[in-house]
Amino acid sequence: MPGPKLDRTVAAALATRLNARADFSKFKVGAALEDGNGILHTGCNVENATYGLTICAERVAVFKAISEGAKGFRRVAIVADTDNLTPPCGACRQILWEFCGDVEIILANLQGKTETLQLSTLFPRAFDASFL
Ligand code: THU
Repeated sequence: MPGPKLDRTVAAALATRLNARADFSKFKVGAALEDGNGILHTGCNVENATYGLTICAERVAVFKAISEGAKGFRRVAIVADTDNLTPPCGACRQILWEFCGDVEIILANLQGKTETLQLSTLFPRAFDASFL
């Protein structure tokens, strides 16, 4: 069973998913990122008629949080309406790694199915600033 912190993060991602602008794919995603002070930063996917300018829910959440000066990210919940729980795309894994480190990732769907894993499991041997 998820603990209270997980429930709160998943609930925020679930609610934010409803704001998704998925006019083209119809695939709505919500994300909620918990910072070091326990504040939740939410995001939804925002699509665009040119398709390529689409931004995923996870990156919206990260960039909103960064722009507000948030730090010490602990976990991110990602919610989509799929039985096979939706993981972050490759671009989002890179951004999460660079700005949030090896955070806990909670995948969830609308039926309350959840899975918790570390980003390093999804994104091993990442390229980051340590190589520069
Ligand atoms: N999408 C996300 O927002 N996050 C994911 O983890 C997977 C994909 C969005 C991008 C696009 O708007 C739609 O889902 C279909 O790819």
